[in-house]
Amino acid sequence: MKVAIITSGGDSPGMNPLIRYLTRALIENGYEVLGYKNGYKGIYNRERHTLTYDNVAGLLKIGGTILGTSRFPEFKEDPSVREHVKNVLSEDGVDLLVVIGGDGSLRGAYDLQKLGVKCIVLPASIDNDMYGTDETLGMHTALTTIQDAVDKIKDTASSHDRTFIIEVMGHRSGFLAVNAAIATGAEGVFIPEVETDVEELAKRLRKRYEEGRRNSIIIVAEGKASAKEVADLLKSKNIGYDIRISVLGHIQRGGIPVFHDRLLAFRLAMGTLKALSQNVFNVLVGVKKGDIVFTPLEKAVKNRKTLSQFLINSVYTFKWED
Ligand code: F6P
Repeated sequence: MKVAIITSGGDSPGMNPLIRYLTRALIENGYEVLGYKNGYKGIYNRERHTLTYDNVAGLLKIGGTILGTSRFPEFKEDPSVREHVKNVLSEDGVDLLVVIGGDGSLRGAYDLQKLGVKCIVLPASIDNDMYGTDETLGMHTALTTIQDAVDKIKDTASSHDRTFIIEVMGHRSGFLAVNAAIATGAEGVFIPEVETDVEELAKRLRKRYEEGRRNSIIIVAEGKASAKEVADLLKSKNIGYDIRISVLGHIQRGGIPVFHDRLLAFRLAMGTLKALSQNVFNVLVGVKKGDIVFTPLEKAVKNRKTLSQFLINSVYTFKWED
């Protein structure tokens, strides 16, 4: 049986370890393995990439993806592009396509499934916004990076008596923002899922300022507002502090995968083997409460992951102030 692997959509730290674990696990269990460069676009352009036991060595500690990735809107929009991708896979004798990627890549796999291509999706995205899994590959490293960046910003904020408004990624989810706020002792957070009481926040910031606390940190999820919009809002509220913004940007997607992402990569590779051994296809392989779970692609596409009640409650009930 021949298994093809692609990484697709936004990259995430942990993709390389997953390529390594999966390639070796498949080879050891008698499967033939083939990679394509640059996601669905690379299949379309027949950009094959040989994956062997030896050439995936050393990937556990490397960020990004050796297979490369891309956004390929034509694949979503044009049925003839999808038909061509299906034909390339069939010409290459591919029996199963493993797609490592986020929400958009999942939708792509579901479209291929509808054309008769057997697919397995392994959830990889820093956003942790995919249905069918508690964790997506890369979120642990991204949060560690954000935590590190905010800790550093705090040093300079304290030196200057400043409030920093820090914008983090997350697409339409507040997951990264609220977790980062908890981990860094931020004074406030803006996320799409919950309204922030701006008057109450401004009052608290003013009080901190008057008490001589030399910094305040506000985390903003990109899906809610820009750091600039929040800064303009707070500037009109007379909080005392000088205000600066920082947009963390793509630094959040890079770096050496932390332990938890390597472990998750291993589990997803083992989950793929489990699916193959049970003849289960067209599923997203996820991890829930520590167990491997399979969710049909159709269900994963049609449902949206929501922020846990714990995180939503924490926005209201817990002041993280440092
Ligand atoms: O989905 C991952 C993500 O990093 C989002 O958090 C962000 O909105 C988006 O990708 C950025 O995409 P691009 O790299 O195409 O600018």
